Amino acid sequence: MTIKIGLFGCGGIAETHTDCYLKLGDEAQITAVSDVITENTQKIAARVGGAQTFSDFHALLAEAEVDAIDICLPHHLHKEAIVAAATAGKHILCEKPLCLTLEEAEAVRQAVAKSGVTLMCAHNQLFLPAVQHAKELLDAGKLGQIYEIRTVDVFRHPWNMSGTGWRSRRETMGGGELIDTGYHPSYLLLYLANSEPIEVTAMLSTYRIHTLDGEDSAQVLVRFANGVVGNIVTSWAYDPPAHMGKFYVVGENGSMQSDGVNLHYHLRGSEPNTITCQKVNTFEREIADFVARLRDKRRPIHTEAEGIDVLKMILGAYQSASEKRIVSL
Ligand SMILES: NC(=O)c1ccc[n+]([C@@H]2O[C@H](COP(=O)([O-])OP(=O)(O)OC[C@H]3O[C@@H](n4cnc5c(N)ncnc54)[C@H](O)[C@@H]3O)[C@@H](O)[C@H]2O)c1
Repeated sequence: MTIKIGLFGCGGIAETHTDCYLKLGDEAQITAVSDVITENTQKIAARVGGAQTFSDFHALLAEAEVDAIDICLPHHLHKEAIVAAATAGKHILCEKPLCLTLEEAEAVRQAVAKSGVTLMCAHNQLFLPAVQHAKELLDAGKLGQIYEIRTVDVFRHPWNMSGTGWRSRRETMGGGELIDTGYHPSYLLLYLANSEPIEVTAMLSTYRIHTLDGEDSAQVLVRFANGVVGNIVTSWAYDPPAHMGKFYVVGENGSMQSDGVNLHYHLRGSEPNTITCQKVNTFEREIADFVARLRDKRRPIHTEAEGIDVLKMILGAYQSASEKRIVSL
């Protein structure tokens, strides 16, 4: 059976998602698209060989026969889109962040619980092979008790930020770089720490991109219920220095680290090991996983439950930076 997808938002990342659905052949098809900009709906409709087009996503929900919705909207519209899709009984893939406030998160949680649909957070970096290998080793207890984890997503943003519209404004973005690109190392930290975040503190900076309401760089510390301390390093201001890496984990038996491709691990008393991985398109893996989990009725790696934990870390970081204190979650 082909899973019919309705797309909310036909901008930049929607094009990437669209190409991923096209690679799935008969398994899934985008049959309806919505965007407030007609050119954008037409562009995606043409790319998929024809789809119903809508300027209002509520109209898409009312009129199009789809099984699932893929949300690729600016951040301030995520909650409204999720609640509407869940209420209409549609499964959901939602781009990060889940939504913008804990009140919105509660509305999302209730709508999804009431309707019984599946919501998958589009946390694409979890599909890096090095992350999956690390998770298997951690779950098998190879490092023993985990002490500290650092996750990183840093690059020099090439855009002229005056042209980025909703990203520069706090009310539509929900913050700055941390709630956008910084969302990736945040969900990665949650995944590797495998526990509930309980305390957070942060320092935010704007080094270079002064047209943003929010920060262009952040350093966040998170303590988890199992004792793990995590450090998120994220920025749009600079290119990462060599060997900065994607993540590392240290524990009682040794350590592991990844550049985002391969995984190196070293258990005390043994020779260092490297798991050589292929470079993959994480979006292709994420979209294929979404469709497979709907088909097989399996829980996604991260649902709204984990999405809310990630949001708590980020909102806690913002509160910590503004109040200059450690925030209990
Ligand atoms: N996973 C990743 O690496 C990654 C990368 C980029 C973007 N994203 C996420 O994807 C989402 C979209 O980002 P983007 O870069 O594609 O933004 P974008 O600005 O390129 O696209 C957003 C689209 O939504 C449309 N839109 C605005 N209001 C609308 C409405 N009411 N109804 C329908 N359409 C509406 C806009 O016209 C635009 O076409 C964000 O949540 C962002 O964080 C994720």
